[in-house]
Amino acid sequence: MTPELLEAGARVRQAYVEREQERFSGGRTASYGRVVQPGELDLTHGAILYLDDITVSFDGFKALDALSLSIDAGELRCIIGPNGAGKTTMMDVITGKTRPDAGRAHFGSTIDLLRLRESEVARAGIGRKFQKPSVFEHLTVFENLELALKADRRVRASVFSRLSGAQLDRIGEVLTLIHLKDQAERTAGLLSHGQKQWLEIGMLLMQDPRLLLLDEPVAGMTDEETERTAELFLSLEGEHSLVVVEHDMKFIHELTRDNPKKKVTVLHEGSVLAEGSLAEVQANDKVVEVYLGR
Ligand SMILES: Nc1ncnc2c1ncn2[C@@H]1O[C@H](COP(=O)(O)OP(=O)(O)OP(=O)(O)O)[C@@H](O)[C@H]1O
Ligand SMILES: [Mg+2]
Repeated sequence: MTPELLEAGARVRQAYVEREQERFSGGRTASYGRVVQPGELDLTHGAILYLDDITVSFDGFKALDALSLSIDAGELRCIIGPNGAGKTTMMDVITGKTRPDAGRAHFGSTIDLLRLRESEVARAGIGRKFQKPSVFEHLTVFENLELALKADRRVRASVFSRLSGAQLDRIGEVLTLIHLKDQAERTAGLLSHGQKQWLEIGMLLMQDPRLLLLDEPVAGMTDEETERTAELFLSLEGEHSLVVVEHDMKFIHELTRDNPKKKVTVLHEGSVLAEGSLAEVQANDKVVEVYLGR
């Protein structure tokens, strides 16, 4: 082999190694000069999610049109907008279900979401709740949470292994959070629609996600269940980051009531139409015209 070929081979190998390192975190310096480990979430710049210029086309129709959005670590962001605005498509892009035609999406400063498969996105710390509850109807509430815990690949447990004290404590904490402590032994299929939604949120929490994506979480809930869901989300804010998509304005109101400056984003035709406090977006003429005034 000639020296030129050897050198070319080394360059290709080096490029490959760099690409692989970049796939997760690129080993960039985190706060206090500590180097971020591969796959570790880097929040040095304050944001947990950055979407930049994301475009998704379906047969020429742009479901997302140069969408840019940034969510701070610990933030609870409400996203509203008319049917077809692209809210669910945005979640599909974040979770690796849909690949955009253009743009960038990062989790923290370094994890490039567009290079990860759906399962890798979940493992990196993004939990997603779809609109329809999907719990194991034949198992009890407790068993559903236990299964969610053991399905977490970071926890080296088989379905048959016994729960540790810490794991039992965590299930207890989550049962309290989701208001199902006294229903732990109940078969999940017998729960109300709202309780099933909470159980599914509890199952997500068992995997300790840093970012939760919640698509119309209170659709079909009673007023009381909706209020309790707002309380639950507010109790998760800070410790987790949440992106909540909802049409129920009363619910958005409850989620923002503790902080009148809390940001709400309005999506329309695949991009951000307005962003600001709930009062600001409600007073925005364009928002009233395309959404709230209908
Ligand atoms: N797989 C797909 N193929 C073709 N068009 C799609 C696909 N997924 C979404 N769309 C279209 O993209 C647009 C955005 O859809 P999306 O579901 O993201 O809207 P949304 O804001 O979640 O609406 P809603 O409030 O009704 O849930 C819609 O016009 C929809 O019909
Ligand atoms: Mg939707």
